Amino acid sequence: MAATSLASPAPITAISRFLIPDLPSASEVLPYLRQLDEARWYSNFGPLVCEFEEKLQRLLARADRTPGQGSIYLTTLVSGHHALEVALHLIGITRGKKVLLPAVTFPACPLSVQHTGAEAVLADIDPATWTLTPDIARAAAARHQIDAVMPVALYGVPLPVAPWDEFSRETGIPVVIDAAAAVEVQQVPQLGVVAHSLHATKPLGVGEGGILVSRDSHMVERARRYSNFGTSERICHMDGSNIKMSEYHAAVGLAQLNRWDAVKQRRGELLSLYLQHLGPLRKFLSVQPNIDAAVVSLFVLLFTRSSGDSVMRELGKRGVSTHRSYFPPLYRHPHFANAAVSDVNGGVLSGAADVETKQEHMVNSESMFARVVGVPFHSFMSEPDLVTVVEEVRRLVYDA
Ligand SMILES: Cc1ncc(COP(=O)(O)O)c(C=O)c1O
Repeated sequence: MAATSLASPAPITAISRFLIPDLPSASEVLPYLRQLDEARWYSNFGPLVCEFEEKLQRLLARADRTPGQGSIYLTTLVSGHHALEVALHLIGITRGKKVLLPAVTFPACPLSVQHTGAEAVLADIDPATWTLTPDIARAAAARHQIDAVMPVALYGVPLPVAPWDEFSRETGIPVVIDAAAAVEVQQVPQLGVVAHSLHATKPLGVGEGGILVSRDSHMVERARRYSNFGTSERICHMDGSNIKMSEYHAAVGLAQLNRWDAVKQRRGELLSLYLQHLGPLRKFLSVQPNIDAAVVSLFVLLFTRSSGDSVMRELGKRGVSTHRSYFPPLYRHPHFANAAVSDVNGGVLSGAADVETKQEHMVNSESMFARVVGVPFHSFMSEPDLVTVVEEVRRLVYDA
């Protein structure tokens, strides 16, 4: 048989991968695995999960900028997706209900809605903040049935909670904040629920995992019970599933918390360097508003004039890995082709409309999709790597 001739693979460099997870090493996890060996307790809210939750709770309480507004409660789960799903379930989202969420986010958001039997309505985004705002939700709710809203802390940039609390008080509509990549930086609202992801690609990665956070202890207790087949003392009291975190993931989580300050510091330094080097290119591109409030894991540039496709093509030729995470907008994904869409004024197009008509309707999501490109951002980049990326971007915008 003739040997297949393969092109030699491109060398792996720090800039040939736009994201490299930064998890604890085996030796950092080992002390916790030894505890597992001792205890022989592997799941069902064992000592490591309890310790991980206590430490997370202290971390979030310390970061809480609204002391006196009530305590923070949380439970760990198998994933951020399941945190969203259980939150929707517990606020009564079922068949016949409609949940508004931004068209620019990860598929986990509309999938969690669909899994409750409800329908996702995809909202256009605010061009100033790149995401769904209370004003956009208000406009949609004034004209259509909306039973819950799922705003998203896009790329880990936290959402202001007071306006969402105000929205819920005013409309009576509950809010589930998807703050997948915003552990610690996302404040906890008075009324809503927050879902975080501990997926390997997130800043506080443990492999797979999620956290549900609320100021309502009853809600968190019910989520915890739901996560273990709806049981307490082996008696089933409510609907449930098996979505609790294992001791193995908590072991990684505890090791990750030990290095959390260093992880944050490294990502903060990288962000400052990027902002400093990109400064002279301000007329050609912008970065996400309020990005310095995030612990960045995905770094995205919005080009003023250049098309995202051509930027990706050109950077690819120069060995720079790029991405367009959370794009295309969800209504362009085949699985969500039947979802209704809502523009920023609350004008809803039914799911039956064809995708071209939806694209015309969703002006801001489309405008971003045409011009957005993510560039490498991870702890393993050196300053020269970062300067190379910026230099390639600079050449490209000047050549255009
Ligand atoms: C915005 C957003 N929401 C939800 C999720 C789901 O989190 P998980 O992967 O932990 O299920 C992700 C995961 O990448 C995400 O990016």
